[in-house]
Amino acid sequence: MKLILSLVFFLTSFSCAYANDLGQAAEKSFSFKQLLKSISEPDLKNLNFSFPEAKAEENFVLRGDERYFITVLASTKEERTRLMELGLDIQEVEGNKVSGIAHAKTVTLLSQKGYVIVEKITFSGYAKEFLKDFPIADSAYHNYAEMVEVLQAITAKNSDIASLYSIGKSLEEREIWTLRINTDAKENEKSDKPGAVFIGDHHAREHISVEVPLLHAVWLLENRNKPEIKNYIETLDIYIIPMLNPDGAEYDIEGGKYKWHRKNTRKNPDGNIGVDLNRNYAFRWGGAGASHSTYSDTYCGPSAFSEPETQVAKKFFESHDNLKTYISYHSYSELVLYPWGGVYEPVENEKDRKAFIAMAKEMADITGYTAKQSSELYAATGDATDWTYAERGVFSFTFELSPSRWGSGGFYPGVSILEKTVKDNIAAANYLLSVTDDPYKTIK
Ligand code: ARG
Ligand code: ZN
Repeated sequence: MKLILSLVFFLTSFSCAYANDLGQAAEKSFSFKQLLKSISEPDLKNLNFSFPEAKAEENFVLRGDERYFITVLASTKEERTRLMELGLDIQEVEGNKVSGIAHAKTVTLLSQKGYVIVEKITFSGYAKEFLKDFPIADSAYHNYAEMVEVLQAITAKNSDIASLYSIGKSLEEREIWTLRINTDAKENEKSDKPGAVFIGDHHAREHISVEVPLLHAVWLLENRNKPEIKNYIETLDIYIIPMLNPDGAEYDIEGGKYKWHRKNTRKNPDGNIGVDLNRNYAFRWGGAGASHSTYSDTYCGPSAFSEPETQVAKKFFESHDNLKTYISYHSYSELVLYPWGGVYEPVENEKDRKAFIAMAKEMADITGYTAKQSSELYAATGDATDWTYAERGVFSFTFELSPSRWGSGGFYPGVSILEKTVKDNIAAANYLLSVTDDPYKTIK
């Protein structure tokens, strides 16, 4: 009801969009060009949210955070998987070294077990950088409210083919908004058209993974009359869910300092915060590469689908039999990953395997990213895309968006890479739309 009211309000006020200056969501329109412009040239006067000035002495400490960014010697995927199980959240693999985020307890555990830690950095050095550079950059990123505002605006403007609805609530009861593009069916009405799904932000701190699907939605609706796009819109059932983990995303930016928060905001019985949503799906849950320690960034939860957010995703995939393709957006490291992620074996079904490889290669060519089987990086069980492929037969990909490295900004890369990342990934996502009617045509 609230949604209907706000849509009605939006519609009625849309016509006088430029006439008055209420400064509210309702009179704004969002064009793809505008959004991109705000990304590359942030308008400091029109920030929707600002970061409070931090006191000088606070600039150097992320209080209460007992994690480190460490580099450890490990040269095989089996060793990397073992490190994940010990609680290291691997971000980078280079030669015989891996780097990632580890709680102090994991650091101790690794030392006891004889792992060679060649570098150990507290987050404080980066906090200083961030406070210098990122508040400006962040004005371009969309927080939860701003994301909803954009989704509402583009839906209202395209209400003949777009509908916006919640597929369920997060732990803190935020709605998980879904924009559906379908010429015949609205919200959760049934459709027999082949379906494509794009989901962002399983992981809180991966804010760029919200921007890509959100701006893809804007772009699609704005270019709805281009013959190629018109064809996708008329023949497919498209779902865009930019923020699956809204509690985590909001928590990560709350208070003017990034927290490098990955998980949801579940308060575990021992007080540690969060379950890793991308380890919480049921397929091979809790096995290779998963951590059972609540302090770890890759904690898989007390049981499969223990979290409301993964429950919502489960219910969504289970209630649509027409879904064919799916991208789960993450950052960073510029990869296009395909199943399996939980085991080293390739996908058994030869036709599927070939189609996976063909599609991944094409999307890697478009973006300049590297295509590989997920478990080549390290095995990790309980991730979204193994489950959607295994249980729902959906051709599912995990994208690790830009940048390529921690040193180029990691989770918080600022404004400079957004435009290219968004454009390249819209092209890759559109390619996926072009094969969603029959993914096997990629191997014919
Ligand atoms: N970096 C992401 C994560 O840790 C993607 C993992 C993909 N799966 C895998 N088995 N490597 O959740
Ligand atoms: Zn991620």
